[in-house]
Amino acid sequence: MSGMQLYPVGIIGTGKYVPERILTNHDLEQMVETNDEWIVSRTGIRERRIAAPEQATSDLAYHAAEAALRASGVAAEDLDLILVATITPDMFFPSTACLVQEKLGAKKAAAFDLSAACSGFIYGLATASNMIATGMYKHVLVIGAECLSRITDYTDRNTCILFGDGAGAVVLGRVPEGRGFKSFELGADGSGGELLNVRGGGSRLPSTKESVDSKAHYLFMAGNDVFKFAVRIMGSAAEEALRKAGMDKSEIDLLVPHQANIRIIQSALNRLDLQEEKSMINLDKYGNMSAASIPVALAEAVEEGRVQEGDKLVLVGFGGGLTWGASVLVW
Ligand code: UT7
Repeated sequence: MSGMQLYPVGIIGTGKYVPERILTNHDLEQMVETNDEWIVSRTGIRERRIAAPEQATSDLAYHAAEAALRASGVAAEDLDLILVATITPDMFFPSTACLVQEKLGAKKAAAFDLSAACSGFIYGLATASNMIATGMYKHVLVIGAECLSRITDYTDRNTCILFGDGAGAVVLGRVPEGRGFKSFELGADGSGGELLNVRGGGSRLPSTKESVDSKAHYLFMAGNDVFKFAVRIMGSAAEEALRKAGMDKSEIDLLVPHQANIRIIQSALNRLDLQEEKSMINLDKYGNMSAASIPVALAEAVEEGRVQEGDKLVLVGFGGGLTWGASVLVW
């Protein structure tokens, strides 16, 4: 990058959307052999949102995008790029980002999807912020949106208690010197791909009657292995992002972690010597929304007045791939 001027880039608007329908732990007790006490103590989740039958991921993404655009003051027509992080696109193609572009009337914007599972939103921030930093683009909409209910097996108690639907969005743009993104730490370990996946429907195992009967289109997770990976990687990814930013963990004003399991978040807090009030936690209301979890948590933190100008934030997540990502930013 030597010789090239880099512009400081930050988040200039946030928005979220969650569907109206609530699926509680008590509802799940009627569906599988489970109970509220187990779910709350093992995961921290109490309820999650489920998209209406006529809603798909682009619909949730669109509502979150509208809210983020309103907050930023940027018009849809002025967007240069729309980037959607999702593992539950409306369809293989066109991309969900193209569908959102059409709904928003963002005629000038390029559009593409990005696949990094629950780390997708942070991967998307890293991608988009570099495009703005170099001067290629001025305003980029980054969305994390999922309809995980569409790939969840509601007869499998190991997974169906965890996931929910929703969308979060941010508008990225130039910010004053000293503010915005300070670092990114992205990583992947493809050797763990078997631990968390949807096997069917792609070129390896195309959709057939047999693939449907064998439940190959549902999300599979080796929960315990993913849990161990998550506990290790959340702390180390956050620490690496802090190191790159030249910041100490004691400077963190707010941690915005992926909302998979309260015990995973607590282990990250321990590693970073942070009290629970320094972390945004909303998984009790929404469960795990994969790529949507971090942007929804961030949008709620902003709504609740928990983020002030100059605050130092750490975003950190992990997920299928396996993948992980962390970022340090000054609000
Ligand atoms: O963002 C994507 C990444 N995904 C995650 O972050 C998930 C990571 N993993 C986890 O959060 C946890 O592993 C789970 C919440 C999925 C499971 O918690 P765990 O403490 O690892 O439980 P376990 O899988 O070891 O299961 C303990 C027991 C088992 O019974 P036995 O074999 O000990 O008799 C399970 O069959 O709990 C049983 N169990 C349940 N019981 C009641 C599993 N699911 C349920 C359930 N209700 N829903």
